[in-house]
Formats: sequence, structure tokens, C-alpha cells
Amino acid sequence: SHRPIIAPSILTADYAHLAREVRAVHDAGAEWLHLDVMDGVFVPNISFGADVVRKLRPHSAAVFDLHLMVLDPAAMIPSIVAAGADRITIHVEGTIHLHRIIGQIHDAGLKAGVAINPGTPVAALEAVTDIVDQVLVMSVNPGFGGQSFIASSLDKVAALRERRGARQYLICVDGGVKPDNAAALVEAGADMLVAGSAVFQGAGTYAENIAALRG
Ligand code: DX5
Ligand code: ZN
Repeated sequence: SHRPIIAPSILTADYAHLAREVRAVHDAGAEWLHLDVMDGVFVPNISFGADVVRKLRPHSAAVFDLHLMVLDPAAMIPSIVAAGADRITIHVEGTIHLHRIIGQIHDAGLKAGVAINPGTPVAALEAVTDIVDQVLVMSVNPGFGGQSFIASSLDKVAALRERRGARQYLICVDGGVKPDNAAALVEAGADMLVAGSAVFQGAGTYAENIAALRG
């Protein structure tokens, strides 16, 4: 099977030393950096917003992969774009006008992704799989790092792989990804693995923790 992209999520990094943390994971071999924006409304937690992304941008050459766990992302997208995001993923459950917002992200020159919560079926993505650059299967209920992987997420990855056909979207997985489930996810079709606690709170160095996820 292929080599997955690893996207460390800074949700479980040391917030008091974020610049150092983002440099460290890029130096450790992570091509992408996953940035979880939470509004305390769509999910029961608040993380950070565009200002923090903008301040981190000069500290990393990694692809900035924004995961917006917010209601009404349209209002936030211009400031996230200006902050230096490369890719923006929004939730099917977070907006009424999914198709329009994907267009808004593309019009800004960025790659666009759509995420589904554990309670949302893959079918909810069907109308947009022709136009998105990535799909994100949430394998925990979003809001917090360090939760356990929901096993049925593997079937969603396989279904997306099965249905992709000639389309180009990357299949991404977020939540509870650990060395003990990463290989099965890649085998099922995952192209990109988000990992928070496995990287920042794993047993080894960041480089070792990232390598362990690649299998
Ligand atoms: C959860 C976030 C994830 C989170 C993953 O709401 O979207 O990106 O940081 O953390 P782990 O890998 O610890 O489950
Ligand atoms: Zn995330």
C-alpha cells in the first residue's frame, strides 16, 4: 500500500510553545500541519482562530490544513485565507450551503475539503465528491484530542475508496489514529492521517512517532 501523508494536529501540542512545536513536527518529517479551529458552538470546545494561524505561518513550510469545526464557516473563511491556510475543510453538518462554501474556498485559490462526523453517513458527501479536493472522515466525535478511535470509521474509508473512481479527492481520517490502527486505515484507502496525541504525546521522539504511523 502507499505511504500516507501525516498531518500532526497541534490540538494536543504545547500551546505555550506553539512555534517551536510546529517547527519540530515539520523537521520530524510531517509534510502537513493540521490546524483545528473550534468555535465552542459546533463543538463543545474552543481552540484558536485565524490570528494564531497567521502568527504560526512564518514558522513552518508545511501545508497548513485547516479543519473548521464551526457553525457558519463562510464568515470565517476570508480571515483564515488571509492567515495563510493552504487547504480548508468544513463540515457537512456545519453549514446549510455546503456547495457554495466549497466554491468560496476554491475562489480564494485554496484546496477545499468536507468532513463528516461519526454519526453522518458517507452518502452525505455524495453531491460534492466531484468538486472537493479531500474528504475527512471523523473517527472520533470532534472537540477534543486523545479520544478513542471509532472502529466503524474504517468502513467509511473503504466506502469512499470504493466510490472514488476516477475522482481525485484525498481520503483523510481524523481522531484516535494510532500506530495500531494506521496500517489498516491506509490499507482501506486512507491517503492522509491526522494525528494529535499519537505525535505530541506518543512514547518516542516526534520523528519516531510519525514513522510509527507510516508503518
Ligand atoms: C478532534 C480534532 C482532531 C484531534 C485529533 O476534534 O479534529 O484533529 O486533534 O486528536 P487525536 O489524534 O489525539 O485523536
Ligand atoms: Zn481535526
